[in-house]
Amino acid sequence: MAIQICVPKEVRKGEQRVALVPDIVNRLVKQGLNVNIESAAGELIGYTDADYENANIVANSSELLGSADITLTVNPVTSGQIAQLKEGSILIGFLNPHSDLDRFNLLKDKNISAFSIELIPRISRAQAMDALSSQASIAGYKAVLLGSNILGKFLPMLTTAAGTIRPSKCLVIGAGVAGLQAIATARRLGAIVEGYDVRAAVKEQVESLGAKFVDIEIKAEGSGGYARELTEKERQQQQEILAKHVAASDLIISTAAIPGRASPRIISKAMVEGMRGGSVIVDLAAEGGGNCELTKLDETILHQGVKIYGPANIPSMVGNHASELYAKNLQNILELLIQDGEINIDLEDEIVNGSLITHGGEIHHAEIKEQLEGVSS
Ligand code: NAI
Repeated sequence: MAIQICVPKEVRKGEQRVALVPDIVNRLVKQGLNVNIESAAGELIGYTDADYENANIVANSSELLGSADITLTVNPVTSGQIAQLKEGSILIGFLNPHSDLDRFNLLKDKNISAFSIELIPRISRAQAMDALSSQASIAGYKAVLLGSNILGKFLPMLTTAAGTIRPSKCLVIGAGVAGLQAIATARRLGAIVEGYDVRAAVKEQVESLGAKFVDIEIKAEGSGGYARELTEKERQQQQEILAKHVAASDLIISTAAIPGRASPRIISKAMVEGMRGGSVIVDLAAEGGGNCELTKLDETILHQGVKIYGPANIPSMVGNHASELYAKNLQNILELLIQDGEINIDLEDEIVNGSLITHGGEIHHAEIKEQLEGVSS
């Protein structure tokens, strides 16, 4: 019998994205898979049930989840959804592997093979599956638009009959995937852009986008291409030098993150107080606690004339393209797991092994197992 793939309508409040778009469904069906989509799953990004012409549309979510061999989601499944999944099936999605670990016991008890998108190793072969990157890139782009929307200034220089407007200065803190896209977007809109990161390799990337690199001479390369946490001394040094750049900026986009940790605190209240009135900070790290001391998730705070906005779930705001890229990422992951119409979970494969949290009725992922059971394997 053909493998049954299912896509529920996302249950996270405000979520617009959907795990598969019609074009990718058509490709999967051509490969011999059966695709089942919950009714209205794509309606918020413009896809009607009729657009999913090659999928079965299922109205009842528990019927959908209960019959799937492979469930694809965007956001972490809830415990209610886990209860509906078919025993022994596969789940692929953002699973938020660093918090609310009890969910993984539920998945383990149902013998689910649960793949966490966030844990896919950042290696070249996995680039086409890397949904952290596809979604971060969207967040970086949109952050500049959100910021420019609440900034009472133009980003580009403008020469008019009434006089010349100077271009705005934009500082991007954390120049990973989101940060680099923010730099490129702010440059396209004509701002004067500076980029800052603690990883030395980033300098060249920032400069190649036409921005100036702020060099604080702290090198904090961590493992897996990520940054490590700064020591208290390094943090003070960072703040002292960065304060001048922060004060000179009209728009700041901050994106700094350390996987599995709270967002690094980089912009203190005092630094905000050193900024010109009317300046704007868009804190993309708000969901992890924020890079700015004053950030409040999903709110815009006004502090001494400076607006600090901490948007949640930015990729959902660009839901159509975010879903298109995400669906392509998932299609590539499915190619890794399905060969000749058969599911094959190859534990020797670095990508499979690294992203699998529960499998065979066990917690498979060593770090999560250690946290849950105090056992290292
Ligand atoms: P991220 O979302 O974890 O962090 C964003 C940025 O914040 C990073 O550039 C990080 O260095 C920076 N940061 C952390 N703490 C900071 C601090 N205290 N001050 C200033 N900046 C700070 O990172 P993201 O965007 O997910 O990418 C991380 C790495 O993964 C990069 O090396 C990137 O090149 C690599 N990567 C590799 C891929 C592949 O080979 N398949 C695909 C995508 C990314």
